[in-house]
Amino acid sequence: MNTPVEACTFVIFGSTGNLSRIKLMPALYHLEAAGKLPENCRILATGRRPWDRERWLHEARGMLHEGIVTGVDPEVLERFEQHLDYFQGDISDPQMYDQLAEHIEHQPDYSANVAFYLSIRPAEFGVVTENLSRTGLLKEESGWRRVVIEKPFGYDLESAQALQIRLSRHLDEAQIYRIDHYLGKETVRNVLVFRFANVMLEPLWNRNYIDHVQITHSEQLGVGSRAPYYDGAGALRDMIQSHLLQLLTLVAMEPPVSMESESLRDEKVKVLKSVRPIPPSAVHSQAFRAQYSAGKMGGKKVKGYLEEDGVPADSTTETYAALKLHIDNWRWRGVPFYLRTGKRMAESVSSIMIRFRQPPTQFFKDTHIQQMERNWLVLGIQPCECLRIQLTAKEPGLEMETHQVSLDAGFRTQSDVYADAYEGLLLDVMEGDRSLFLRYDEVEYAWRIVDPILRVWSVERDFITSYPAGSWGPEESRRLFEKDIDRWRHKLDVDE
Ligand code: BG6
Repeated sequence: MNTPVEACTFVIFGSTGNLSRIKLMPALYHLEAAGKLPENCRILATGRRPWDRERWLHEARGMLHEGIVTGVDPEVLERFEQHLDYFQGDISDPQMYDQLAEHIEHQPDYSANVAFYLSIRPAEFGVVTENLSRTGLLKEESGWRRVVIEKPFGYDLESAQALQIRLSRHLDEAQIYRIDHYLGKETVRNVLVFRFANVMLEPLWNRNYIDHVQITHSEQLGVGSRAPYYDGAGALRDMIQSHLLQLLTLVAMEPPVSMESESLRDEKVKVLKSVRPIPPSAVHSQAFRAQYSAGKMGGKKVKGYLEEDGVPADSTTETYAALKLHIDNWRWRGVPFYLRTGKRMAESVSSIMIRFRQPPTQFFKDTHIQQMERNWLVLGIQPCECLRIQLTAKEPGLEMETHQVSLDAGFRTQSDVYADAYEGLLLDVMEGDRSLFLRYDEVEYAWRIVDPILRVWSVERDFITSYPAGSWGPEESRRLFEKDIDRWRHKLDVDE
């Protein structure tokens, strides 16, 4: 039986922003609908606008109607609204924090367990934390105090270290919840279950049987209205340093001592530490970047990155990045991990593809079968959540012909409830379960992996390869593969 979640006060900074609108408010509403939100949970939205509670409720209703595709249930809405409050204040005004502290302490129905969700610009994390600390709001005297932040955690290794020094002056590591929303996705959570709850896979999960691993996140969307952030970040920072390296750790880690958060994160960090550092001279052979040019998607013309609003005309920021990594440990030595991500790609797909080795001997010498196909294990993360094992089988008939078949374990049935990644993660914050949040050393070692690439790219600003919007990215990125027969696998279905 699940123990009920403790009462808590959930303070959102930046409550009128995009994240709150699209993810946080709908996720909190869904938690209420699922009966998971503690009865005495107060959700305190803070913002600069001079609104009262009624005005905020009106705004929140709008967010929910926009964000909940299945429609808002009036009964759930009524219950959910009981949790909502609004507090007016400007995060750049130090007095605001004194008033906030007073407000939280003096409301009889506010729990002393408080989570602060900083849905604000990363540049403001430091100053907000300092102010919360100054007013005593981070002291865990009568209840817990937690701070939730979301990537980017720094801009490179040095700035990540600087941010950490600043945060750790006021917060213990156990109070910091660094969200990587990818870790809340259903298949991503499922990777560990597959690996460690099924005895069949473990004997194969190593260099003796696996040829290489491909991890892909492709998106049809372009940069949209996010150019001010994205142009300073690029695909390597935006996706690979965070989400894709997290996926790599889950695929490559050793079985943890337990599923308890520290054991899990210890194993993930070991993987990151085992990734072979990329010297500047190897950056071109292990990393590839490109930018989308104008193209066609769904029959419609779309702009190139340089024509997008807010992008400087001479930008060489990459919207596509691909990487080859080697993990120098007993299990993975010699197995390349290929990671790639891109915007304005042919399809939106996130997947982990495991390519097995060639069978050791060619059995069918005197038949039509020239070359045995190698097996694949395919994990679809989104939009299709699935596990597929691709095998070779005989074609029915008199001839000895083979074809590819797939053992298919779709996770979903029609009646399954789809939960957004944020729902589980927000609940984890309230329950104090940090297993799906990043510990600082994970962030630091992930930066150590990509930092040498960023340094080389930052001085090579004259030229960037382009790929047409709507394509699968630049052909040239195939040069990362060690063997000529290997290529990016785009589709989850059995290869034609
Ligand atoms: C975010 C990136 O972290 O993840 C975005 O900043 C990206 O650029 C997004 O589009 C992808 O996540 P999801 O869950 O929308 O596939």
